[in-house]
Amino acid sequence: MASVAFHESVTAVQHYTDRLFSFRITRPQSMRFRSGQFIMLGLLVDGEPLMRAYSIASPSWAEELEFFSIKVPNGPLTSRLQHIKIGDEILLSAKPVGTLVLNSLTRAKRLFMFSTGTGIAPFASLMRDPDTYETYDEVYLTHTCREVAELKYGQELTETLMEDPLCGEEAQKQFRLYNSVTREDFPFQGRITTLIENGKLFSDLGIPPLNVETDRAMICGSMEMTKDISTILKGIGMKSGTNSRPAEYVVERAFVG
Ligand code: A2P
Repeated sequence: MASVAFHESVTAVQHYTDRLFSFRITRPQSMRFRSGQFIMLGLLVDGEPLMRAYSIASPSWAEELEFFSIKVPNGPLTSRLQHIKIGDEILLSAKPVGTLVLNSLTRAKRLFMFSTGTGIAPFASLMRDPDTYETYDEVYLTHTCREVAELKYGQELTETLMEDPLCGEEAQKQFRLYNSVTREDFPFQGRITTLIENGKLFSDLGIPPLNVETDRAMICGSMEMTKDISTILKGIGMKSGTNSRPAEYVVERAFVG
């Protein structure tokens, strides 16, 4: 189990649906991380720390740490975490880690960030980092959810990003959000795997399809989703990278319990 290094306090909580919410906490002064990394986060339960992996949704320069979480009714942590209020204590492990960082990928022109559900969190960090726009000419974030209301977190972030003093100007030219929904009516419907394979993602965006020469990809979602997109990417000749061996795509599973 991860040991507790920091005791921080909740500064904001926002609920989106009965399944999703976001929150912010104070940032330990000594904590450094790279945009896209995750950390162990938790609560004291019956006197013991209960910790789970959470992607940090705020960019590396932010004064507070932001997280986007699912609410699992009987989940040991999230059934409790969903009730946090401003001022409550949150436990953090010492060292953020993870492969969804810019230097796990070799250089190319376009970056595709594929996410479902809470898998958008690491990309919420990267989309607000100026380094992302220095590294790539074009940045596409796909976010697919079961219901329309679950898209709101990413949509609000995108609106705010366009006004961001640090990278709003670049984002207006270089960043696009693509949403689709699988269990409700919505103009863009279907799983992202289907939309990549039938080409609709690219025709909707008016851009050329995925190509190993020009494109790099990051994936974050459920185990099945990350596996299925990996298969598609391998099929066009991409290889999976790590911090020490950069390649054409990287994967992280979203936290689910
Ligand atoms: P679906 O509604 O068809 O299951 P979840 O909340 O269960 O993590 O799902 C988030 C989104 O990910 C849903 O839109 C879901 O579609 C989609 N999804 C689930 N499994 C896969 C998969 N193997 N490949 C692509 N998308 C998936």
